[in-house]
Amino acid sequence: MQTALVILAAGMGSRMKSRLPKVLHKVAGLSLIGHAMRVGAAVSPARTVVVTGHGAEAVEAEVLGLDASAVCVRQDAQNGTAHAVDQAREALADFEGRVIVLYGDTPFITAETLDRMLAADADVAVLGFEAADPAKYGRLIADGTTLERIVEAKDASPAELEITLCNSGVISAPAGLLFDLIAEVGNDNASGEYYLTDIIELATGRGLRAEVITCAEEETLGINSRVQLAEAEAIFQRSARETAMLGGVTLADPASVYFSFDTSLAQDVTVGPHVVFGPNVRVEEGAEILAFSHLEGCHVGPHAQVGPYARLRPGATLAEAAKVGNFVEIKKAEIGVGAKVNHLSYVGDATVGAAANIGAGTITCNYDGVMKHKTEIGANAFVGSNTLLVAPVNMGAQSMSASGTVVTQDVPDGAMAIGRSKQVNKPGFAVKLMQVLRAKKKKRDS
Ligand code: UD1
Ligand code: CA
Repeated sequence: MQTALVILAAGMGSRMKSRLPKVLHKVAGLSLIGHAMRVGAAVSPARTVVVTGHGAEAVEAEVLGLDASAVCVRQDAQNGTAHAVDQAREALADFEGRVIVLYGDTPFITAETLDRMLAADADVAVLGFEAADPAKYGRLIADGTTLERIVEAKDASPAELEITLCNSGVISAPAGLLFDLIAEVGNDNASGEYYLTDIIELATGRGLRAEVITCAEEETLGINSRVQLAEAEAIFQRSARETAMLGGVTLADPASVYFSFDTSLAQDVTVGPHVVFGPNVRVEEGAEILAFSHLEGCHVGPHAQVGPYARLRPGATLAEAAKVGNFVEIKKAEIGVGAKVNHLSYVGDATVGAAANIGAGTITCNYDGVMKHKTEIGANAFVGSNTLLVAPVNMGAQSMSASGTVVTQDVPDGAMAIGRSKQVNKPGFAVKLMQVLRAKKKKRDS
């Protein structure tokens, strides 16, 4: 049977104290709504409907940027979770499968849990958890796994408040039934809202079966404040570090390495302390990322070496056994097999051929203030220290540049470019100059 996702993301998130809509805050480099969409992607949904409200335009742009086939519907006034899901009624009018309702601010539900929800032998399935501190959560009134109803904390009796089995908010039901039940939900309760949770009692009243599926509380963590955002980040990082190590990656100091939601490190990669992986990084087998390096949007080939103190920006591609050393920045550039950029260089909008050596302090001058231009450096080229490559410019295969050269014209294959003023030596001048200066200083200070 097909599955559709309805992700609720219309709430204001006032406790974030932010101009940014809550679901656009990030964990591990990805927005919360992006995490919710990834969570949902695990069930290969035939449709994804996101309910937006506060900050709708920005949220919709994010959603469609991540999945152009998603449908966004607006909930203009936040009248409760049932009212929110109801906004998806039209978008799913012709949909015949099951719907899973997720929250846009709840990033950690696992694929395994959603699979169990879909496999439930019931008309309606609700994801519950044993809460360490049930506080404001809806309480699940259940007999074993059979759910009778859900009572919101605000409406609960003292006895019901003693219950620790709580509602995560994730609910699954066939589309037709879900919208039928929602149509019957009223708002005669402590909040004056249309509660999605009321569909359980409506379903059991019809003789239908509702079932509780349980998961660990950590999976259901919803983010309401920046404190919880930081907690979520910590949970994510802890799990990403563990996953990397169990996958054969050595982390010298796991607690100081930061991953993105999509960091991919192959077996036998080693990562030194204080390394940060921004989004979209892939590192291949046997590569070494040394301490204090920052990588994003890049690909590090097998057995390549990066850092210490290197910065790989989007579009950096290191081929096998390439080396990028300390205080080097690489952007949108391919570094060929075994090529070396070892010290204090900026290489941007460039290709560097196999086994080329880029001397210390080399800069590709790729930006003229208006446009970016390309530098091409051939295989086995030797770029002397402190060379400025004024793009667009090419250095041929096996070509060289003398230290301090400003390369403004293409250098043919095998040629040597020298572009600096000629040196003049003045015998004895240094000693004399020093005497003059010392005398001046003495006069000034007396
Ligand atoms: C809800 C559940 C509660 C559960 C808790 C888990 C109801 C009535 N209550 O309570 O049983 O224990 O979640 O966190 O469902 N939203 C909208 N539009 C609305 C209202 C909410 O899009 O009109 C979205 C919010 O942005 C949020 C989610 O739905 O992502 C949950 O809303 P929230 O107000 O946080 O629900 P709770 O009162 O916490
Ligand atoms: Ca909430």
